[in-house]
Amino acid sequence: MSTPYRHVVLISGATRGIGRELVTTYLSRPNYTVVASVRDLDAENAKSLNDIPRGEDTRLHIIKIDSKSKTDALDAITKLNIKEEIEEFDVVIAAAGIAKDYIEVVDANIDDLQEMFEVNVLGTIRLCQAVLPYFAREPGTFDKKPIPKFVTISPTLSSTALAEEAKSLLVGNYGGTKAMLNFLQRRNQFEEVDDEICYFVVSPGAVRTDLALRAMKELGLPEDTLGPVDVAVKGIVEVIDEATIPTHGGKFFNFDKTELPW
Ligand SMILES: NC(=O)c1ccc[n+]([C@@H]2O[C@H](COP(=O)([O-])OP(=O)(O)OC[C@H]3O[C@@H](n4cnc5c(N)ncnc54)[C@H](OP(=O)(O)O)[C@@H]3O)[C@@H](O)[C@H]2O)c1
Repeated sequence: MSTPYRHVVLISGATRGIGRELVTTYLSRPNYTVVASVRDLDAENAKSLNDIPRGEDTRLHIIKIDSKSKTDALDAITKLNIKEEIEEFDVVIAAAGIAKDYIEVVDANIDDLQEMFEVNVLGTIRLCQAVLPYFAREPGTFDKKPIPKFVTISPTLSSTALAEEAKSLLVGNYGGTKAMLNFLQRRNQFEEVDDEICYFVVSPGAVRTDLALRAMKELGLPEDTLGPVDVAVKGIVEVIDEATIPTHGGKFFNFDKTELPW
């Protein structure tokens, strides 16, 4: 009997919100290795990831990556590879992110903008650079293994095309950092001439997490317009499962599978 294929998935920002729900979803599947990255291994919501129910023969590794660190991502991924089962990643989802600065773009608080840029953009670039060597596939195995996917999570309001529609939501500086990330994801796909990695962006909609609840409070908007996290994550995971380079590479999708304009 042949050994079933072991999928390896890495999710950053695993302690809370969308990242934690993604970890929960992948852990529920059989024969997965889930790598959950957190910025503090001793935090209660990092340790409690171990209590999440798992599918048959599914394993969890928790690693430390602070998106602000210049070295964490490379250090953590290099150490991980020592463990035999993690020779290659199938899916890496950069869910770690922050939003600050609930004001008009012209009034940007430069320190807040810099911090969002550090976490949302530079942290994701460092993660991408650290995992790239472990996306490599042996020649001739592409028909047997899924195409590796590097996925980022952005709000719909990070769409440049939708900037006018979203103008009343005063999170333009946060949206701007995500717009840069969107651009890099799209560029990555077109620079990936060997078609060995699928890069795309998914929006969860506006969902009930600490990040979104704080934004609603700061902006004086009703919380009950936020959707449930599990519904958004179910959709995100379906988008990821179905993604191929021709259909998804270099594109922006909503969690309900509709394509969003850049
Ligand atoms: N919620 C929404 O409606 C919405 C909409 C569009 C896009 N998104 C995006 O979805 C992603 C997840 O957001 P969320 O709504 O789930 O927010 P959340 O509940 O506030 O969770 C944010 C996650 O990011 C982690 N994080 C923050 N700073 C970090 C750092 N310096 N290094 C490593 N990890 C760090 C947090 O870890 P700690 O627990 O250690 O702080 C936490 O796990 C973000 O990229 C966000 O921009 C969310």
